[in-house]
This record gives sequence, structure tokens and C-alpha cells, in this order.
Amino acid sequence: MRQAGRSLPEYRRVRADVPMLEACARPDMIVEITMQPVRRHDVDAAIYFSDIVVPLKAIGIDLDIRTGVGPVVAEPIRDDSGVKRLRDIEPDDVGFVSEAVGRLVEELDGRPLIGFAGGPFTLASYLIEGGPSKNHERTKALMYGEPETWAELMRRLSAITLGFLKVQIDAGASAVQLFDSWAGALSAEDYRDNVLPYSASIFAALADREVPRIHFGVGTGELLSLLSEAGADVVGVDWRVPLDKAAQRVQPGTALQGNLDPATLFAPWEAVEERARSVLDRGRAAEGHIFNLGHGVLPNTDPDMLTRLTEFVHEETRR
Ligand code: CP3
Repeated sequence: MRQAGRSLPEYRRVRADVPMLEACARPDMIVEITMQPVRRHDVDAAIYFSDIVVPLKAIGIDLDIRTGVGPVVAEPIRDDSGVKRLRDIEPDDVGFVSEAVGRLVEELDGRPLIGFAGGPFTLASYLIEGGPSKNHERTKALMYGEPETWAELMRRLSAITLGFLKVQIDAGASAVQLFDSWAGALSAEDYRDNVLPYSASIFAALADREVPRIHFGVGTGELLSLLSEAGADVVGVDWRVPLDKAAQRVQPGTALQGNLDPATLFAPWEAVEERARSVLDRGRAAEGHIFNLGHGVLPNTDPDMLTRLTEFVHEETRR
């Protein structure tokens, strides 16, 4: 999940003089930061170091990532002329991604590399609101009030996301994850009508690539069946719905990913262990389970807790 690195002193050291988006565009930084949690925690897969707004920056959208804030867009998109600024992504726009993925695949030596991109609703929200948003009110205003502009925005964002995922797969990523993190802000009906068709088109276009496709959002308890309908092989679940319940909500044959509450890691180890064991037990109800946190690692997490948790999951699952 995002920000695994942020809890690590070695991450803070390499990032000390390098702004986030510059780090995301430099293969040497990408390789080093992607490898840090793998080296330290011995996790089973690496997640490519980048951010969901990197492809938007690459096609010329003026934006920045501010520490403690998140993505901030200089000129938010609120109408047709804004939507027209979103052009398709070409592999040459993100040559640094191909290079970094290639180097990582070599360095990881068989350990899977997970590539990723932002989902259409989440990217739209950053672009329309101009930054992080609690209520996504301008986004919903456009969705409800200007359905044709919304549809064109979704089509363009889906094309960018698909292009960006293909670059990562072509360079050797062994799985891809679509982070529609804020989709849980929508009712099931609004999600089904205004977002699902576009995410479904992304997953459908990747069906012949033979890499597992993961679909994740936060607060999506009521949307799990729709997230699964979009066509991913794996659905990520936050901590609000236990995995045995989530298993009943997704399409048959769909695996689950999750779902330990990241805040749990601030409790004493005994409490962490008890909850991690419960996640593993409940995950057995699913047709495949990837153990993970239910959302990103919180910045003040004690890295030793993550190492211990990884060890525990390895021991339990080998047993
Ligand atoms: O663990 C990793 O480093 C994996 C790489 C990764 C990042 N962002 C790096 C990052 C991934 C997978 C993401 C995805 C991402 N980015 C999502 C989807 C996943 C999720 O968490 O829901 C979203 C919504 C974003 C947008 C974004 N970028 C947010 C909300 C933030 C955090 C802002 C903050 O500081 O609280 C960022 C910044 C960001 N992306 C950081 C990292 C390591 C922190 C940068 C720093 O200050 O060092």
C-alpha cells in the first residue's frame, strides 16, 4: 500500500532533498525506494514507487504533491475545455517508468512487482477539486449536472490509466492494482452508472495480458459487489468489512486482499497478532487471499511492527 516507505528512516533519508514528483521520475530513486520495504520486511511482493498523479503530470497537467497534504492541481478541471486538456499517454511520456520497472524486475529476481494506477473517480476528484477533498462536492456537481462532460472526463482518464498500466506490464510488472480509493464516497447507484463502466473497460482491455488485476477502494463495503463486477481478479477490502462477509459480496472466483486496520499497528503486539490471525482465518472463506493492510501504512508506524507482522503471516501461512 502507499506510504509503506514513509515509516522508514532510510526512505526519509533518500527523500530528504528530493521533492516527491522528482523522486517519482528518477529511475535510481524509484528502484531504491521500491526495494526498501522488501529488504527490511521481506514482503512477498514489491509495489512500484510512484503516485496515482504521475501519469497526469506526464501528459502536462500542472500539479504537485505536498507533504502532509497530497496531490494539488494548479488549474482544476471544471468544464469541457478543462477535460480537453487531458490527452492520451504515450510510452515516451513515461520512459522513466519502463526503465525503472525493467531494473526492478531484474533486482527482484522473481519476486513479483505490482504496478498501479489511480481509478477514474479518484483521479477525477483530485482534478476537479484541485486537491484532497472530504465531500467531493464539485466532483459530484459535475457528475450530476454535466453528464456529457463527466462521461468524456471518464473516457479520457480511463484511456490514460489503461495506457499507464500497459507501460508497466510491458516493462515486466507481474500484477496491476487500480486504486479507486475514494469511490466509497459514492452511493451504489451513482457508482454503477457513472464510474463502473469505465473501470470495467480498463480491466477488460487488460484481460489478455495474463497479469492478475486488483481493484481497491476505501469505505466500499456497500460497493464490493460492484467493484468485483468491474472485472478484477482480486478485490481489496478495507478493515470495515470482515473478509468472510466480503467473500459473499464478490463474484465467484474472485480473490480478496486485505484487511488489517493500519491503526492496529499502534497497539501492543498481542493485539496486533490477535487481529492479524483473525484476518487470516476469515480470509480462508475467500477464493484466494492476499494478506495486506486495509489501507496505506500510517507515517508514524513503528517499522519493527511491520517486520514482525510480515514474519507472523509467513509463519502462520506456512504452518
Ligand atoms: O508505498 C508506496 O510508497 C507505494 C507507492 C504509492 C504512493 N502513492 C507513494 C506516495 C502508491 C501505491 C500511491 C497511491 C496513491 N496516491 C493513492 C491510492 C492508494 C491509497 O492510499 O488510497 C492515493 C489516493 C494517492 C494520492 C496521495 N499521494 C496521497 C493521499 C498522499 C499522501 C499525502 C500525505 O502526505 O498525507 C500522497 C503522497 C504520497 N504518495 C507519499 C508517498 C510515499 C508521501 C510523500 C511524502 O511526503 O514522502
